[in-house]
Amino acid sequence: EKDRKKGLGKPNGELHFVGKKDELIEAKRTFRTLDGRDILIIHHQGAFFAMDSYCYHSGGMLQNGDIEEFDGKMCIVCPRHKFKISLAKGEGIYKASDPREKPLVPRWYSKGVKQRTHTVTETNGDVYVRLSTESCWIDSDYYQGEKGKIERAKA
Ligand code: FES
Repeated sequence: EKDRKKGLGKPNGELHFVGKKDELIEAKRTFRTLDGRDILIIHHQGAFFAMDSYCYHSGGMLQNGDIEEFDGKMCIVCPRHKFKISLAKGEGIYKASDPREKPLVPRWYSKGVKQRTHTVTETNGDVYVRLSTESCWIDSDYYQGEKGKIERAKA
């Protein structure tokens, strides 16, 4: 709880200017620290997305992850252990098969929202991010806090 408060800064819903649209499109991935929170802004197939920049699993740098579609959802694949996170919602998705089924049929499952996502808006070529004000705990919050930062550095 303490870490969470430190990590979140002041998510009061204000707009943060993060750059010019053209520059962000060109960069594809942009790292910004807003109110003490490290955010990754992604431009992919004509749309902007923003999420916490460290993977909810163990703090991997999502900035270096590939983007692929799984189960109809565009996802970033964490370079560390290949967890898949949907760009739109921060949902953790994975493929598994039910051992009771014969033959085994692998299917996609969702773990729910694991990575905090933020809102991106654009006005006259200027791009803004509004930090999530969702007050419930989301797993990626851990790696924005003090303890999480230390762990990330060790890994
Ligand atoms: Fe991202 Fe493990 S740290 S998959």
